[in-house]
Amino acid sequence: MPPFQTVIYEKSENIASITLNRPKVLNVYNLQMRDELYQILCAVKDDDEVKVIILKGAGEKAFCAGADLSDFLTAPSPTIARQVRWERDIWGHFLSLPQTIIGALHGYVLGSGIEMALCCDLRTASEDASFGLPEAGLGIIPAAGATQTLPRVVGQAKALEMLLTTRRIDAQEAYRIGLINRVVPLPQLMPAAEEMAQKIANNGPLTVRAIKESLMRGMDLPLDHALRLNYLLYEMNLTTEDSAEGPLAFTEKRKPRYKGK
Ligand code: COA
Repeated sequence: MPPFQTVIYEKSENIASITLNRPKVLNVYNLQMRDELYQILCAVKDDDEVKVIILKGAGEKAFCAGADLSDFLTAPSPTIARQVRWERDIWGHFLSLPQTIIGALHGYVLGSGIEMALCCDLRTASEDASFGLPEAGLGIIPAAGATQTLPRVVGQAKALEMLLTTRRIDAQEAYRIGLINRVVPLPQLMPAAEEMAQKIANNGPLTVRAIKESLMRGMDLPLDHALRLNYLLYEMNLTTEDSAEGPLAFTEKRKPRYKGK
């Protein structure tokens, strides 16, 4: 992939990482970042070598402090400034990634930043992280899906509170309400995210994808349809070589060698 200016893409064996890289302005999301993330997500989706992706922010102060508000002022009009953000379906791409994506969150996780974090399947945060949706105070509606993704993670009451009051919450509260999976001291953030990624990458890749698909699609279906989906994916998975390898490795007292077939 070409070098990018607002993001860094790296791949090490089966784990890829995407770093939001505008640390001087707290990694705020601008149109160039939108275009660069779009290219990365399109490419990574089709890269079968990548089993897990870690999304993180560069610098000490923030994962991402939201949308770049200066974009709104430099566009020909506020309407155009908002419309162009929809020209590329970044959020749809994030949410439809077949691989597992882990957010490694520190510092400010605000606005589009928390929305990006909500597009991740799992979220690990450092103790200094703070989470909030300032949009209502700015007279705008969160554009990247928080009105839908946040209540699906923390429930309606907490989501409405965060969206309507714009109150920022700290990492401990975010952990208590289920917004994040783990809180660790800052130096442990990347080791913790990488450990989580490695555990997932060690499992059969087709199985991991099918479990994610079953859960994510199933959540939006009536229970009987969701259970049917679970069963269909279970049956499909049974036809893979990997589903025989797991039990075989167990009986032979060795680690499984999954091939993704
Ligand atoms: N858009 C554009 N630039 C932003 C920004 C944003 N959303 N958030 C921060 N920045 C820039 C600041 O203008 C500043 O740039 P400068 O050094 O050229 O002046 C730089 O990032 C550092 O931010 P600063 O405000 O000095 O840091 P801080 O630690 O004092 O405060 C925040 C951090 C996050 C509390 C504060 O920057 C803030 O409230 N930002 C807006 C967050 C927001 O509303 N996001 C949602 C947008 S929809």
